[in-house]
Amino acid sequence: MSVLHICGGRPLEGELTVQGAKNSVLPILAACLLAGGPVELFNCPQLSDVAAALDILRHLGCAVRQRGHAIVVDPSGAEGSTISEAQMHAMRSSIIFLGPLLARTGQAHLTYPGGCELGARPIDLHLSAIRALGCQVEEGAGGIHCRGRPVGGEICLTIPSVGATENAMLCAVGGRGTTVITNAAREPEIVDLQRFLNTLGARVRGAGSGTVLIEGGRPLTGGSYTIMGDRIVAATLLSAAAAAGGHVVLRGVDWRHLAAVLGVLHQAGCGIRSGEDRIELEREPSRPLQAAGEVRTAPYPGFPTDAQAPVMAALCASQGSTWFEENMFDSRYRHVAELRSMGADINVRGRLALVRGVDRLRGAQVAAADLRGGGALAVAAVGARGESILSGLHHVDRGYECLEGMLRELGADVHRETGVQSAP
Ligand code: UD1
Repeated sequence: MSVLHICGGRPLEGELTVQGAKNSVLPILAACLLAGGPVELFNCPQLSDVAAALDILRHLGCAVRQRGHAIVVDPSGAEGSTISEAQMHAMRSSIIFLGPLLARTGQAHLTYPGGCELGARPIDLHLSAIRALGCQVEEGAGGIHCRGRPVGGEICLTIPSVGATENAMLCAVGGRGTTVITNAAREPEIVDLQRFLNTLGARVRGAGSGTVLIEGGRPLTGGSYTIMGDRIVAATLLSAAAAAGGHVVLRGVDWRHLAAVLGVLHQAGCGIRSGEDRIELEREPSRPLQAAGEVRTAPYPGFPTDAQAPVMAALCASQGSTWFEENMFDSRYRHVAELRSMGADINVRGRLALVRGVDRLRGAQVAAADLRGGGALAVAAVGARGESILSGLHHVDRGYECLEGMLRELGADVHRETGVQSAP
């Protein structure tokens, strides 16, 4: 296995362009199934989740080429309609292939993506959206079998699910007729997906507003597109700079996508300046962070659940107490036990976590139990006194492209050791 060695206590300094967004590239790769010719994507992050998506595309018959951060997908030979259990389990987001696969081939056979490290993650909203578009869905022990050509319909989501909104958009674009999705998720990645689809000739409007309108049945072409920057990676790096102190400038991410996170970091005493394609965070290392009151996760534009763990990690060493309320997922405090082993004072009761600030965390051996929890432990480690050894990197590598490289670019003392014997 691999581990990160992180020696904390150095202020972070410098400028960095943030990687492309995982949560944008994954639905866009699935959307390539709908294209009428080769699609060239730029700014694709190199992540294990992206590799898993490319594996599914190849398995379905697409020709795929990857060079650095560019990926070309040619879907012209894609005739498959089955995604294997192993592929469905490799990545929770594999369910996003359902809508476009059904629209392309008139059938889709797959299995449940399964629970994940964040707790139960149902797909009922995805399936009811597919049914609302006139397709048959059979669920059983053998998996999920969908048939039919999507026609327009009205989809009212009971929860503004990001994945269900994307699946519904992709299925509807490939079908005939007009579709209206109400209570749609408003995340920036939904807007990026709309932009991509319209680049190929689709007619999708309203993304970002809660009501998405799709005129299906238009022939799509190939094309090229640049993936937006990753706001959650940016939130993690800003949290790291808040924890360690220093002065960092991030580029490649729209600060408006991070307004809720920047608000909390500002309340904690960080100087924030934002402009076109630029977010700057400054904290004098000798001046401790302040508590940030209450942080409640919510659908966009609320505070993102994916930034909860990294921001909590930064606030462990602060003056005063901060309440966190996790409203999106059941098991999203798995980083807490590890933060405690670094000296943090955190009390969890149900969806609430009370962080009582301490002076300083200390380095420890910690293990990531999920993706953003892993990011959080790295944040804690760069602010801590002494060395931390972070394991569980297979979680981290799902969403951060070379986290150690990014932190090093900002002056942190971090390196990856490979071939480490795991504890018996
Ligand atoms: C996406 C993001 C993930 C982020 C999450 C919430 C991707 C690849 N992942 O995940 O990083 O943490 O949004 O911002 O974009 N739900 C149901 N039934 C469903 C679907 C969802 O009850 O059929 C519930 C979920 O259990 C959860 C809530 O809806 O409580 C929101 O989940 P959702 O927005 O669907 O998250 P994902 O799309 O899986």
